Amino acid sequence: MKIIHKIDELKDVIKNINKTIGLVPTMGALHLGHASLIKKSVEQNEFTIVSIFVNPVQFGINEDFEKYPRTLKKDAKMCEELGVDIVFAPAADEMYQDTKELTLVCPPYSAINKLCGKSRPGHFDGVATVVSKLFNLSKCKRAYFGQKDAQQLFIIKKMVKDLNFDVEIIPCPIVRENDGLALSSRNSYLDESSRGKALKLSKALNYAKELWQKGIRNKQTLCDSALKILEGTMVDYIEIVNPETFEDWQENDKKALMLIAAKIPPTNTRLIDNMEL
Ligand code: PAJ
Repeated sequence: MKIIHKIDELKDVIKNINKTIGLVPTMGALHLGHASLIKKSVEQNEFTIVSIFVNPVQFGINEDFEKYPRTLKKDAKMCEELGVDIVFAPAADEMYQDTKELTLVCPPYSAINKLCGKSRPGHFDGVATVVSKLFNLSKCKRAYFGQKDAQQLFIIKKMVKDLNFDVEIIPCPIVRENDGLALSSRNSYLDESSRGKALKLSKALNYAKELWQKGIRNKQTLCDSALKILEGTMVDYIEIVNPETFEDWQENDKKALMLIAAKIPPTNTRLIDNMEL
């Protein structure tokens, strides 16, 4: 496995391989959620590239860009064990010469005026831009994204369609701890007491799903019941959408996706989770 930091070196290596390439874009601090995407890529492609890049353009000014965990050595070891061919880990100034004068890929307002897009202005412009760059650089045939970031996955699929990227997007299910907590690089910010509060996200989703399975279809009842469980956290949003369109869920829509974002005191770690009801 090669660890590559420079764009020119990546281009050189890719020029000389005539294999189907799978790309797994990540920000590192890899966990078993990332590993599930990597495993799938290794299975489905002759060559797998994992990018590890904490992308400054998708972080807001008061967000955790500086303190985001950076564990390249450990990440590279995991990638090697999983059969990855290249870890692409560029520095910020290798990816962006000037973030102020950057051509951005901007998803439509209707896709970003809700959920994480609403509370993190500019976030999805940053995501769509870096993912476009990574698609162009890696020349991947397939790219792997987790359903954990459901709005991100929706936006990337739409971008690929709208901009005619020749990349197949492979969605991968959420990997959870045994007790239900969705794996996230940001879980490393949690101590024992806040971890208990973090667990409320999956508990709330599971409870809403139970109510749904009992036949309850009233949006207010589903959200209010989940909200009660989330007491002790600072809820940013709790919404139910149609998973195909990401429009607000309507009572005649067959499928419903509940999404939650909440900050967990005392560190105010912002976690997200979602579940199809
Ligand atoms: P990051 O948070 O590192 O996540 C990389 C990929 O791993 C994403 O597709 C995410 O949905 C997936 N993932 C994270 N936790 C998961 C879990 N518990 N189960 C399954 N998949 C999981 O998402 C990003 O990075 C960035 O926005 C990126 C796409 C790399 C662009 O910078």
